[in-house]
Amino acid sequence: MTKIRAAITAVNGWVPNYVLTNKELEELVDTNDEWIQSRTGIKERRILKEPGQGTSDIAVNAINGLLKKRGITADEIELIICATTTPDMQFPATANIISDKVGAKNAWGFDVSAACSGFLYALNTASKFIETGTHKKVIVVGADKMSSIIDYTDRATCVIFGDGGGAVLLEPNEEGNGIMDSILRSDGSGRVYLHQKAGGSVRPASHETVDNKEHYVFQDGQPVFKFAVTNMADVSAEIMAKNNLVADDISWLVPHQANKRIIDATARRMGLDDDKVIINIERYGNTTNGTIPLCLWEWESKFKKGDNIIIAAFGGGFTWGAIWVKWAYDGTK
Ligand code: UT7
Repeated sequence: MTKIRAAITAVNGWVPNYVLTNKELEELVDTNDEWIQSRTGIKERRILKEPGQGTSDIAVNAINGLLKKRGITADEIELIICATTTPDMQFPATANIISDKVGAKNAWGFDVSAACSGFLYALNTASKFIETGTHKKVIVVGADKMSSIIDYTDRATCVIFGDGGGAVLLEPNEEGNGIMDSILRSDGSGRVYLHQKAGGSVRPASHETVDNKEHYVFQDGQPVFKFAVTNMADVSAEIMAKNNLVADDISWLVPHQANKRIIDATARRMGLDDDKVIINIERYGNTTNGTIPLCLWEWESKFKKGDNIIIAAFGGGFTWGAIWVKWAYDGTK
């Protein structure tokens, strides 16, 4: 019997219109364009400014475009998994809100929380529902309104993050294409270096937590950088070795966009030339769960059926991993 694999059959991304440039940040904090570009690779990022809009609205824009591209209706969707670090609300899950807003009346759904590796965790989880044959149309959406948890007086974090997201549709494939293998890891002791201090059950919101600015991203950048460089490169090399893939076999690396230097180190470790490495960090910064689907969306027209793609990420938790995908369709210009 032919194995059923979960193939990505459509992809779409969405970013808000407002462009926050390095120049504008120079007016908010003690930073400069040269530092930001040379240390991170970022030139600008998008910010969702419209009052009353949140992560679900980013996701809804991405999903509505996805359904149109694939030519299907929302009621055909059976499951929506939303990877996010900035849910609309503490509860219910943003996936539930998204289902309602897109009119996916027959879908159930849930959120996956794994910081910058969330899209990988969600993609792996979603693939199991297809592989077992219980579901035929599953959407994985990765989206974040990072500006809702960023302190624009903290130069260590405000230059890095942006808002945006994207969605993929997973469907069964019996031609040997789709998600081939995944390696996912986590190490919770890394939480001390990257987290949001308050707003959870350990330290609920209070006047004190607000006054202390504890509802924003805290990041001790250097240790995170060191762990990210090592682990993202290691896991990418590991998934290649495990599947007997060499650099020539790989068509594309789709890396989480946290820092251009981390991406370069991963590509070097895999032995890949620059032209196989997808990078859009200069325009969007780090959109957390949005980076990978945004990359897939922007490069979709270049992908060919059968292309070997390695998707890799590292994020808060710590969480990290790599997924090997055999692309299932030819991109159209
Ligand atoms: O996506 C989830 C996972 N996150 C990551 O992967 C992020 C990993 N970390 C990083 O990408 C980098 O650590 C950062 C981009 C966050 C920081 O870059 P760095 O090269 O590690 O800089 P640093 O924190 O070691 O700071 C170097 C210097 C310091 O000044 P002194 O002490 O050398 O005088 C900082 O105070 O740069 C200073 N600095 C800045 N200067 C201008 C820190 N932030 C800024 C800034 N503008 N925005």
